Amino acid sequence: MNLLLLGSGGREHALAWTLCSSPLLNKLYCAPGNAGIESIASCVNISLNNFSEIIAFCREKAIEFVVVGSEIPLVAGIVDELMAVGITVFGPSRAAAQLEGSKGFAKDFCREFGIPTADYARFSELDEAINYVQRQKPPIVIKADGLAAGKGVEIAQTISEAVQSVRACFAGAFGTAGYEVVIEEFLIGQEASFFALVDGSHAIPLGTAQDYKRLSDGNTGPNTGGMGAFSPALVLTEKLNTKVMESIIVPTIRGMAARRMPYTGVLYAGLMITEKGPQLIEYNVRFGDPECQVLMFRLETDLLPALLATCNGSLNRLKLLWKNDSALTIVMAAEGYPHSPQRNTEIKGLDGINETDAIVFHAGTVRKKNRILANSGRVLNITARGRNLKDAQKKAYDVARRIDWPESFYRDDIGGRSIESES
Ligand code: AMP
Ligand code: GLY
Repeated sequence: MNLLLLGSGGREHALAWTLCSSPLLNKLYCAPGNAGIESIASCVNISLNNFSEIIAFCREKAIEFVVVGSEIPLVAGIVDELMAVGITVFGPSRAAAQLEGSKGFAKDFCREFGIPTADYARFSELDEAINYVQRQKPPIVIKADGLAAGKGVEIAQTISEAVQSVRACFAGAFGTAGYEVVIEEFLIGQEASFFALVDGSHAIPLGTAQDYKRLSDGNTGPNTGGMGAFSPALVLTEKLNTKVMESIIVPTIRGMAARRMPYTGVLYAGLMITEKGPQLIEYNVRFGDPECQVLMFRLETDLLPALLATCNGSLNRLKLLWKNDSALTIVMAAEGYPHSPQRNTEIKGLDGINETDAIVFHAGTVRKKNRILANSGRVLNITARGRNLKDAQKKAYDVARRIDWPESFYRDDIGGRSIESES
């Protein structure tokens, strides 16, 4: 089968690397890809917004299956467009992608179908939002309604901070994404990410992970797309996983079917494990990045038939097998990330990394005349497996230290607190 993968991050490199081992794969294409993906797939420079060019490329190369990595084309309706011309595609429809595309939609949906989540109110008028905020007890969570690359959430410690944050949203700090806001109760607990494959009516768990969203050690600094992750998430015991399936994933699938927008693809539930049990912080309608890197490094089963079963409604017959170990990934970022990452600096030492239990997934890299250059903020994902988290952590940091790229930085504490709870 000829397959087109859409995206250019570490998530897509991990997906490409996993899909390559499938006997069902004939040729793998990726748009636009990166220097790591280029070494295992044919990359083509098509913008993810250009649906007509993507469709023309699929016809030219006899593509039978498209896998969409990022939320932006999903929310813009790429699945509907490809399906309309008869191409099988992995991901939710435009209607179903609203679970991530609009936080207000997701919250109203949770309320209607009894899915545990923080109490909230939504506003499209500045004065009403300010009035509401002034009656709340801090900390107060303020969210821009639309997509904001993980940066549209503010946790205000005082009423005046909350008012400022609401004003910034309506003044365009997140573009049109912030012209509507959701104001939420602050949840206390440990965060974890839960993934499931969903085929419209069935769901199977696809593993768990813990993500490090803040830029710096000790969970300080600004929010980022994610600076590291590990899998499985130790906080999610088997009992809690069952609870997440019963109280969050299954009601979501039923609710979306009842609303006549059946969900297909990967459903990523961002969770807070509170004293009252798991609560939904947010839905994402695609794999997490960098969580996908650790999930793929632990997956035993062929991924391609699993993605196909998701599209053709046969997940109830599928069983996924996992390596019985832990995986951990460290994001190496370009100096200046997230505000103004330095580009075109050279990365050396990647060729010498050749072990079975460690791999470097590329994100923002380009190859120029046999040199690998950084061309975006999050650039490499140093990923390792081990008998336990401690072992995976040691291997990943050993490999990271061997990479010769002075204009980079990474967090030193990925896995840190959790390792203490492991022993
Ligand atoms: P989101 O983009 O909705 O995942 O939010 C980004 C981050 O903000 C989350 O990973 C949490 O750390 C934090 N957050 C969001 N909503 C809440 C909430 N209701 N209570 C506490 N923390 C939250
Ligand atoms: N790492 C967070 C995300 O993919 O949304």
